[in-house]
Amino acid sequence: MTNYKKTKHQLKGEIKNISCGDEYCRITIEAPAMCQVAEPGQFVMVRAAEEKSNDPLFRRPFSIHQVADGLLTIIFKIVGRGTRNLAKMKTAELLDVIGPLGKGFHVANMQRHYLVGGGMGIAPMHFLAESIYKQHPESEIIALLGARTAKELDAFAHLNSLGYLQVATSTDDGTSGHHGLVIDLLEQSVAARGSGAVYCCGPGPMMKAIALFCKDKKMPCQVSLETVMACGVGACLGCAVSGADVIGDGYLHVCKDGPVFEAAKIWV
Ligand SMILES: Cc1cc2nc3c(=O)[nH]c(=O)nc-3n(C[C@H](O)[C@H](O)[C@H](O)COP(=O)(O)OP(=O)(O)OC[C@H]3O[C@@H](n4cnc5c(N)ncnc54)[C@H](O)[C@@H]3O)c2cc1C
Ligand code: FES
Repeated sequence: MTNYKKTKHQLKGEIKNISCGDEYCRITIEAPAMCQVAEPGQFVMVRAAEEKSNDPLFRRPFSIHQVADGLLTIIFKIVGRGTRNLAKMKTAELLDVIGPLGKGFHVANMQRHYLVGGGMGIAPMHFLAESIYKQHPESEIIALLGARTAKELDAFAHLNSLGYLQVATSTDDGTSGHHGLVIDLLEQSVAARGSGAVYCCGPGPMMKAIALFCKDKKMPCQVSLETVMACGVGACLGCAVSGADVIGDGYLHVCKDGPVFEAAKIWV
């Protein structure tokens, strides 16, 4: 049974499914109210301390990977204390979640959409692909997924079975798809198919290179930034980044103003 508490954006959602390997976990919780209002590119803050402990104190941010039938899924890499604790959780336990938070991707009214994900930056692309398909079923939706090695792509293998999504991969070591960078795939795809809207999430240098490529090709580009976050709601100012198009106090706050930004707001 789901136990809603405090506000409609905070709940203890029952874990319907959890599957973890050595490095990655996928958790699906019951969260019907969140699913109704969630947009692709938004994230949730998850309490990642063990029961009766406050360590780590701060919640951890994770992109919304998928929403379907009132169920919300996140996929994460196990990197430290919080994610190690989360990986120990079991089906039917309650996960303490705040969300959906931040500003997500704006689905462009275009015929072609390039979803470019690097590493765990692939996580928001499932929800985004589904949203684009729902709004523009006739459009071409192309996912370009980059990772260091094929093993890192395993957590996202299910994207290959979405009939409306064309998937190409690249790896640094050549163990899956193109041997090289994901921007090579974007350059090749744009040369072969033509321009389109670009949605990007991954390491900073990758996104910057893609933003500059898009600027050169005059293609609209949105980037989803990742910073360390303490509160996730604009209160601690810990996630400030300086943008190209600075406003107010001169900083953009990734949790509140983003995490998704027009690329030109970050990199001219
Ligand atoms: C908006 C947003 C969405 C995110 N979505 C996802 C997602 O869908 N899947 C996913 O796996 N991760 C995602 N992350 C990153 C995730 O929040 C961190 O990996 C997580 O907070 C680490 O918690 P921890 O307690 O396990 O690690 P910690 O003990 O806090 O840190 C362990 C190690 O991981 C490094 N680390 C911590 N945070 C990050 C980070 N944000 N990026 C890179 N390295 C980090 C630390 O520097 C340290 O070396 C997202 C981050 C943001 C800001
Ligand atoms: S994480 Fe606290 S203001 Fe963004």
